[in-house]
Amino acid sequence: MLRIEGLEAGYGSGKVLFGVDFQVPRGEVTAIIGRNGVGKTTTLKSVVGLLRASSGKISLDSQDLSRRSVHAVVRAGIGYVPEGRQIFPALTVLENLRVGQRRAPRTWTEERVLDLFPNLRRRIKNRGHALSGGEQQMLAIARALVTDVKVLMLDEPTQGLAPMVVKQIGDVIQLLKAENVAILLVEQNLNLTESVSDRILVMSKGKVVETLSIGQFKLDADRVHHQWLTI
Ligand SMILES: Nc1ncnc2c1ncn2[C@@H]1O[C@H](COP(=O)(O)OP(=O)(O)O)[C@@H](O)[C@H]1O
Ligand SMILES: [Mg+2]
Repeated sequence: MLRIEGLEAGYGSGKVLFGVDFQVPRGEVTAIIGRNGVGKTTTLKSVVGLLRASSGKISLDSQDLSRRSVHAVVRAGIGYVPEGRQIFPALTVLENLRVGQRRAPRTWTEERVLDLFPNLRRRIKNRGHALSGGEQQMLAIARALVTDVKVLMLDEPTQGLAPMVVKQIGDVIQLLKAENVAILLVEQNLNLTESVSDRILVMSKGKVVETLSIGQFKLDADRVHHQWLTI
């Protein structure tokens, strides 16, 4: 279980997160929703250590990951797929999977990951730039998995993708959940969010303002939408 307590962070002197608290259990999808600019991406960046938190605690199971390097956080089992599917366009699918790997994965081996993404297996020798947007997103997820993830954080994975591809991403999320991965999903597509999530966290102005089970969220979706998502 990933546990975030009292997380505060920002850019320079501008604070963005004002005490973020939440947990991400194994085998569940926890979604963060909220308007643009409330701090969703900043939260993910702070968890993975790309941004130095000014206070708060980040722990995975009983291991304290606060103030660790990105490398140490990733090695502990936290995978991060940033917005905009950042893959290496000049490298092949296989090279993308292997780049930066210091040791062979134990849990998520290349074979197992490629079983999950048959499209990528078919395109294993193709370069990143030759892939469709959906395939690039799958590759970005596959790359995060081969670091032996326990927690997978996805920042707007369906942005700009066709409905059929959005559904495929949803299927992958369901599969990973069944494999006991803890998933933290930041997503604008509420239909997808509803269909895969177990819990919904609503963020506003750098804090988690509501935590709803998916059942509660479905009953209260109109209110949540008007209160926290419309401009
Ligand atoms: N690199 C940055 N430098 C300065 N301010 C930033 C930077 N990235 C984001 N911000 C600001 O931090 C706030 C939260 O941004 P972000 O976490 O990206 O929001 P969200 O992902 O919820 O849309 C916004 O006001 C944004 O303008
Ligand atoms: Mg964002």
